[in-house]
Amino acid sequence: MNKLKNWSGITAVIGVDWGDSGKGRIIDDLAQEADIIARYNGGSNAGHTVVNHYGKFALHIIPSGIFNQKATNLIGKGVAVDLESLIDDEIIQLKKSGVSWKNLVIDKQATLTMPWHKLRDGIREESRKYNKVGTTKRGVGPTYADRTERVGLRVGDLYSKNFREILEAEIKIQNRFFSLNLSSEKIYKKFKSYAKIIKPYIGQTIPILKEAIAKGKNVLFEGAQGWLLDIDNGTYPFVTSSNPGIVGIWRSYDLHPSLINNVIGITKAYTTRVGFGPMPSKIETNQRDIIIEKGHEIGTTSGRVRDPGWLDLVLLKAATDSNQVTQIAITKIDVLSKIPKIKICTGYKISGKPAHYIPGNSYYLSLCKPVYEQFPGWDEDLSQVRKFEDLPKNAKDYIKRIEEYTKTPVTFIGVGPGREEAIYV
Ligand code: GDP
Ligand code: IMO
Ligand code: MG
Repeated sequence: MNKLKNWSGITAVIGVDWGDSGKGRIIDDLAQEADIIARYNGGSNAGHTVVNHYGKFALHIIPSGIFNQKATNLIGKGVAVDLESLIDDEIIQLKKSGVSWKNLVIDKQATLTMPWHKLRDGIREESRKYNKVGTTKRGVGPTYADRTERVGLRVGDLYSKNFREILEAEIKIQNRFFSLNLSSEKIYKKFKSYAKIIKPYIGQTIPILKEAIAKGKNVLFEGAQGWLLDIDNGTYPFVTSSNPGIVGIWRSYDLHPSLINNVIGITKAYTTRVGFGPMPSKIETNQRDIIIEKGHEIGTTSGRVRDPGWLDLVLLKAATDSNQVTQIAITKIDVLSKIPKIKICTGYKISGKPAHYIPGNSYYLSLCKPVYEQFPGWDEDLSQVRKFEDLPKNAKDYIKRIEEYTKTPVTFIGVGPGREEAIYV
């Protein structure tokens, strides 16, 4: 592995923001040199865009390393497995484009997202007047809730001789508790047919991963979402229900974070948020529309507009510190071209006094007013730039300020969505 500096062994790519920073695109590229690509959290709420010689894809659960036919792609036990998305959307999308794979393994212990989880997600969101989270309505919160309650159906249950009874009992309870009207016969038939389709991919991911590590193979972990959406350290309750940060790897694969050689924290050159919750550096001027349009800031999964904000170094540093990020990947710097003055948030104030990010406390964050530094922009189109030296001086200064503040090197800069549209510093 030599595209990124000091990169070999075990590497994690995690969002150090509110998601959608380009995890799919960097994984697709780095996966060409990986033996294992392992997704560890989230479910079909994720939308990872990959643009390569096969076409453009929106992946939700299938790891973005699927285009490397020599590698093994793992879906770990910490992933909420939504078979409707996996089979009726992703597998079809990939097959239509001529993508084939040999080694995809879905962990038997992963919890299934069932139809009642999606219904509950929708009912909860729609019934809320205040504190709507703005979920993707993919049933992810209820799936993790049932997992924690130890009542979730797991992938392996699909093959149990008692599957029909297990399913019927659970549907009875769901119908009663949540006033649903689900037919167990219909769901049974549907999931039996899904079970048949995915049978060749079912396995135990941890032994595969550990064997590969013991042999010194290159492993790439693919996170979903971003650390600011972490159930424990994000802007609760405006978060997702899993751990997008480094802890998610431990929970899914029993691999201690100290064994990970490289942690790549990925963020856009600005920031975005989709759904509700505080965002101190939200752009309220007409630059908001410019960034939405130039950056195509429309959610991959939900089709909603993502709110843009200036890059928030307070939050970025909180994320890089918490996850011991060893290198930062910045995407979409091309989108900032022609913006005359670019702001970057370097501190907060509450009632005129300095304030910090307190993980998990979104009320406190909602009170924070950003302190900005302003950078002169650049006019050049950056999409053809492949070397750091060739960037305009103002773009270089912008990157250097990020490195200086976070005390972490920026080793990847995205200048377009395609696999090749990147600068490896
Ligand atoms: P993910 O969820 O982190 O994988 O990110 P998404 O796929 O949801 O959103 C990132 C969007 O930005 C996608 O539409 C990508 O194709 C696009 N993208 C990624 N990197 C770049 C970049 O460097 N420049 C531009 N212009 N677009 C990018
Ligand atoms: P990727 O992997 C951006 C957001 C939702 C909502 C909150 C909770 O593509 O970066 P959920 O459906 O998880 O219960 O919604 O989290 N959210 C994301 N935002 N990117 C994602 O994934 C997201 N997955 C969930 O918009 O605010
Ligand atoms: Mg996304």
